[in-house]
This record gives sequence, structure tokens and C-alpha cells, in this order.
Amino acid sequence: MKLSREILRSEAEIAERVQQIGREITETYAGQEISVLGVLKGAFVFLADLTRQIRLPMEVGFVESVASRRSDSLTEIVFSTSLRFSASFRIEGMHLLLVEDILDTGVTLAYLCEQIQLYGPRSLRVCTLLDKPHRRKVDFSPDFVGFKVPDRHVVGYGLDYQGKYRNLPFLSYVE
Ligand code: IMP
Ligand code: MG
Repeated sequence: MKLSREILRSEAEIAERVQQIGREITETYAGQEISVLGVLKGAFVFLADLTRQIRLPMEVGFVESVASRRSDSLTEIVFSTSLRFSASFRIEGMHLLLVEDILDTGVTLAYLCEQIQLYGPRSLRVCTLLDKPHRRKVDFSPDFVGFKVPDRHVVGYGLDYQGKYRNLPFLSYVE
């Protein structure tokens, strides 16, 4: 697998879309304070840009990657036993916005949301930069989506292939 020469979304296209989603989120939660929770590692770039486009009082935290794939096999997702949140991150009674890099089969986000609900947030919404709607295995609809993408392995802007390419400022593929 190597990096494609094709650019899926340029840095400028991403910046424009992130600004739009930031505005949507600002309007959705108008007058409220939110807790923004980024899923490590993939969401770290998106989260940094997105939070700066949201005009609301907020706290920001991270949750350690809950799922990892044993191989490229899409079915072998291994979940850690309990979620690890940033110290002193508040969920109970808060309007929680979960931020993820990509929604693929939906297994990861469905699991995360189920776990987060146990901590008693006042509300829970999900924002994902990318969505591969054709690969869904569990019923899951995000509240905010950056771009729908085809069924290829996307890298860049936080997303990796075997740990690499997270630092690319644009979105591309490996092939
Ligand atoms: P799901 O549980 O199948 O929805 O998988 C979601 C997780 O798989 C994401 O959080 C990513 O870490 C990873 N993933 C799925 N597709 C891609 C991709 O195209 N590039 C990079 N990571 C991906
Ligand atoms: Mg991820």
C-alpha cells in the first residue's frame, strides 16, 4: 500500500467545510455550554480546527482510542474494557459533543455512545469528519458530517494507515 497521488480533499476545501460545521454546531447549541470529546488518535487534527470554529463556551477532552483493528480485517475490532477519559473531563449533566475522524461500519461509535450514555450526559451528539455510508454494519446516524467518502482507505488530516500519514494537511488515499 502506498500513498495515492490523488487528493480527496484539499487543505482549503477542508478548512471551508470545517468552518461550516463549526457554524452549524454553534447554532445547534446556541446559548449553551458544551463538552467536546475527541476520539484519539484520529480526531486530533479535526478537533483542533473544529473547536476554533465553534463560538460557544466549552470544555475539551479526549478519550483514548477504544477500538483497534488486529489486521486490515474490518470485523476484528478489539475494544478496551473501559473508556479512559482525560482527567477531570465532565460528562454528567453536560451537553456532550463526540468528535471522531471517520464513521465506517459504525461499530466504534455505537459502542462509544452506549458507554458514554452510562455517565449521564444531558445530551449526546456526534460529529464525524468523514462518513463511509455504504459500509455500515450497525444502524448509526451522526448529527454532523464533514464529507461522505467512497469505500477506500483514507489518510491525512489525522487519519492513518498503519500509524503513518496523520500529518498530511489534506485528505488522500492509500492504494
Ligand atoms: P468503524 O467502527 O468501522 O466505524 O471504524 C471506525 C474507525 O476505523 C475509525 O475511528 C478509524 O480509526 C478507522 N478507520 C475506518 N476507515 C478508515 C480509513 O479509511 N482510514 C483510516 N482509518 C479508518
Ligand atoms: Mg479512529
